[in-house]
Amino acid sequence: MCGIIGYLGRENAIRVVIEGLRHLEYRGYDSAGIAYVDGTGLKIKKCKGKINDLEKLISSEDCQTQLAIGHTRWATHGVPADYNAHPHSSDNVVLVHNGIIENYRELKDRLISKGYIFTSETDTEVLSHLIDLYHKELPLEEAVREALRQAKGSYAIVVLSKKQQDRMVAARKDSPLVFGLSDQGYYIASDVPAFLRATNRVVFINDHEFITVTAEGYRIYDSEGKPVEKEIQQVNWSPSMAEKGGYKHFMLKEIHEQPRAIADTLAGRLLLNEQRVNPAEFGFPDGYLKTLDKIFIGACGTSWHASLIGKYLIESIAEVPVEVDLASEFRYRKPLIKGGDLFIAITQSGETADTLAAQREAKSRGAYTLSICNVLGATSAREADSVFYTHSGPEIGVASTKAFTTQLTALMLFAMLLASERQVDYDTAMYIDELLKIPEKIEQILKRESEILNIAKQYSKAQDFLYLGRGLLYPIALEGALKLKEISYIHAEGYPSGEMKHGPIALIDEEMPVVILVQKGPLKDKVLSNIEEVKARGGRTIVFTSVEDPALKDSDVVFTIPETLPELEPILMVVPLQLLAYHIGVLRGCDVDQPRNLAKSVTVE
Ligand code: AGP
Repeated sequence: MCGIIGYLGRENAIRVVIEGLRHLEYRGYDSAGIAYVDGTGLKIKKCKGKINDLEKLISSEDCQTQLAIGHTRWATHGVPADYNAHPHSSDNVVLVHNGIIENYRELKDRLISKGYIFTSETDTEVLSHLIDLYHKELPLEEAVREALRQAKGSYAIVVLSKKQQDRMVAARKDSPLVFGLSDQGYYIASDVPAFLRATNRVVFINDHEFITVTAEGYRIYDSEGKPVEKEIQQVNWSPSMAEKGGYKHFMLKEIHEQPRAIADTLAGRLLLNEQRVNPAEFGFPDGYLKTLDKIFIGACGTSWHASLIGKYLIESIAEVPVEVDLASEFRYRKPLIKGGDLFIAITQSGETADTLAAQREAKSRGAYTLSICNVLGATSAREADSVFYTHSGPEIGVASTKAFTTQLTALMLFAMLLASERQVDYDTAMYIDELLKIPEKIEQILKRESEILNIAKQYSKAQDFLYLGRGLLYPIALEGALKLKEISYIHAEGYPSGEMKHGPIALIDEEMPVVILVQKGPLKDKVLSNIEEVKARGGRTIVFTSVEDPALKDSDVVFTIPETLPELEPILMVVPLQLLAYHIGVLRGCDVDQPRNLAKSVTVE
């Protein structure tokens, strides 16, 4: 997820763009850049680092221009570096991009064969050369349209031309783009905060729509070039609310971003025409996965919960044994890891000290290391032998939500790849088909948020919670409990349902809400029995289930999630638990984005 902005108007365009980028830094902040026309041609200033670092590259003479574009980056392809920062350019074209071009490899090969020289590791650069190729014969807007016809994936772009220096052209598909109008000029950006201080008059651009802006005005049109009439709307957000996309907190915004985050994490990772996972996205040496005979996973907190699910998925789909460790314990137990084994570090930040230490310990013992990470160029990613990046975008809220569900997506893809490489038979088409439906199924849950709020209102005063789950839902019970305790400070414990009778049942009384997760299949009846055991002791039963069952009719609350494959149920089941923790935390007046005592990345052991 990145932030893009373009400005054309009477004000100093570079100042407007820099100011706008500051209000988009929540969308990504590992590098930044601007491009502008100054009468002599197109100038570009860009660097690794934040907006302040970019500002140091801009001198006073740069500032006499009325047309400029800018970008603040959250890297997905190509580590944070000056040469990977946007804008990216070609002979006569320069652009900024938010999104993922899935078929960038094949486009890049084609453009290189036509003589284009690439200077970055990004997917975006193919767009600048592809548009330039068409712009040799076509006006800018037609060149943009032709090029985007060939790009697969998601994009929001703003483009400038050396040949037509009086305009900017923008377009979007699956990445946001808004157009702002003021007396001082026109703004195109990823999001309203970029120009909200100047105007709240906004046109929301839809997928496959284009816009051309000149000093004389603007024109919005579709992919065939036909004019599109759009309403100018008035946005009444405060700047702070605007950065949260109108949500009250980053945590809620990031819970709602999960459909997009999972779609972006899947983008480019499935070879649909071959019905298999794309091995290039994991980068293992040829044949390694065939010879592998043991896997270790190390992580902390929510990422450790993902590891537990990873074990289930890898062992059931690919039939390779997996040991899971809390990273803080791994190196103290003399693990029997040896050369050729695989160690997977799961870490959203890529900087968690305990996880880095475990990864280094594994590497020192000769293991091959894979990092599943959300931050390009993070320490874990740089030190690992292979990296798989989740594409959830920056996770600002301290509580991990979209990073967790994209980790589960990554582990599912890994298990499928491992099985394929080892010729272990499984129904690939069924899993791929269902994976692609997960974003929509999460949307269905998010649409019922008000039901979760009602549950939160009933139970926000409780002092203790117990979360119970079996099989693949046991780690989700742990995650639900962690979310609640770290956001609302209520004491909450996650437990395997089968373990309740071995102790925790002593806690059950009418003051103790018990969240119980029910899945379809052979474990369902056992969990239903656990619900009876809780009710028999006066406990309050809050059931989240993927199956309807008459036995649930006497539960205090029943929330049903959409059906899916058992292996993908954890991704859906965690979403209502995230919302429950969030709303209880808000009802209790907690700082849900920055809970007391917590840090987003624990870089100390
Ligand atoms: C989860 O909500 C917490 N913020 C915390 O447990 C976190 O998952 C843990 O610190 C690991 O962080 P990492 O994924 O960045 O390594």
